[in-house]
Amino acid sequence: MGSKKLFINTMGCQMNVYDSGQIQRLLAPLGFSVTDRLEEADLIIVNTCAIRAKAEQKAFSFLGRLAPLKERKPELIIGIGGCVAQQEGRQILSRMPYVDLVFGTQAIRRLPQTIQRITAKRCRVVDVEMETTVSPDDFSTDIPHMSEICEYVTIMRGCDNYCTYCVVPYVRGRESSRPPEEILTEIRGLVANGVREVTLLGQNVNSYGQKEGLCRFDQLLAMVNGIDGLGRIRFTTSHPKDLSQELMAAFNSLDKLCPHIHLPVQSGSDAVLKRMNRRYTRDQYLEKVERLRRLLPSIAITSDIIVGFPGETESDFQLTLDLIRQVQYDGLFAFIYSDRPNVPAAHFDHKIAEAEKKERLQAVLALQDGFTAQKNQALVGTVQKVLVDGLGKTGPHHPEEGMPDDRGAVDHWAGRTGTNKIVHFASAGSTGGLNERLTGHTLAIMIEKAMSHSLWGHIISSPAESVAKGE
Ligand code: SAH
Ligand code: SF4
Ligand code: F3S
Repeated sequence: MGSKKLFINTMGCQMNVYDSGQIQRLLAPLGFSVTDRLEEADLIIVNTCAIRAKAEQKAFSFLGRLAPLKERKPELIIGIGGCVAQQEGRQILSRMPYVDLVFGTQAIRRLPQTIQRITAKRCRVVDVEMETTVSPDDFSTDIPHMSEICEYVTIMRGCDNYCTYCVVPYVRGRESSRPPEEILTEIRGLVANGVREVTLLGQNVNSYGQKEGLCRFDQLLAMVNGIDGLGRIRFTTSHPKDLSQELMAAFNSLDKLCPHIHLPVQSGSDAVLKRMNRRYTRDQYLEKVERLRRLLPSIAITSDIIVGFPGETESDFQLTLDLIRQVQYDGLFAFIYSDRPNVPAAHFDHKIAEAEKKERLQAVLALQDGFTAQKNQALVGTVQKVLVDGLGKTGPHHPEEGMPDDRGAVDHWAGRTGTNKIVHFASAGSTGGLNERLTGHTLAIMIEKAMSHSLWGHIISSPAESVAKGE
């Protein structure tokens, strides 16, 4: 079918990253290869996020920029997918006359036929149908992923939790899990292609397989742990209400499971948690954190916080700050509450003023910055196992003074610790060839310096050593 160019802009969470990978793989047989240059694209896909109003605005403002491109090149196909597409559906066609295709979160597997139809008939298509269960061909396991070192694997889709602020259950549909065999086959394929680390994705992995009677999440993890050649396993997200004893125990029993859990608390106030429909109390949450740390003292814990939920009083907010002080997270994502169409909280009274929400956000971020810095500082002088995922993003020299620059010409690499902290390290006088040899290996790195959101160190083990140890 000749060679055509696909430009794909992925917004939002890891689910969308995974879906964009699927889209690339499904469209490859039609002759599409990926470009990062908008002007040369024959097909532009925008994979959108609807979680907050800002995310949605970002999608529409990017789409707005595409109108002149379409004018210059009428045969260009423009498609909008993901959560905004699912939410807005047909309305997008009237709002944006140059958009050819609106496809929802469960329409990805039909994309090849849809694109062929649009090419042949020059028609406009809306495909936002939702199904309640995953069908085997929703996920293409037979077409290899791009050989990255770390990959995402979606193990379930949708969400049944209906937190009152959240659009996910509406735009991703009912919770539904993929069978373990399918997941294992996909991961084995990834490992054969050089992938060393997988992150298993679901909105609430702890309820994996329950509806379908497949197996428990910790049992799935044990199966994944048995895959030869795989180095590390991560997962996200575990809802605090469902964090089970078995999953906690898995952190000790499964050697490949990274010592990190993202356990979003959202608020430290029971009154707010109740109105959010989170179905746990502050005490229950803190108890689970304590138990995790008793089982594995080195475990890293991260969280999400929403500030300015409708009706959040100053004392509710103080309870959130107090919880952050008590837990001392390794990292935190904080969000300003954003009204979403048709979710229950959109109709709640006592909305918080924008200025107040911004102040609360700043207070959370400032508090957490102190803990992040302390946690990073505590690692200086320790040796960490770092899975190298390539050259550092900031280029060969570190922006902060006093680091590798003063040692002459260096390349610099980046990787992560098991606790998910970013580590940069340099190797003086190296060549590009070394990059290939380091990428994908787990190295012992002596941490020299803590930055605000990352660490710097130097190699103390050779790649050969780490391979021998099977890390
Ligand atoms: N399933 C995951 C979260 C998915 S959304 C979980 O339950 O943890 C990621 C984060 O976005 C949420 O944890 C929440 O903190 C934030 N979020 C969701 N809806 C939001 C809204 N309407 N306004 C602000 N933040 C929101
Ligand atoms: Fe949204 Fe709650 Fe489901 Fe997470 S668990 S996706 S916050 S509804
Ligand atoms: Fe993810 Fe955003 Fe959709 S967070 S599930 S891409 S609404």
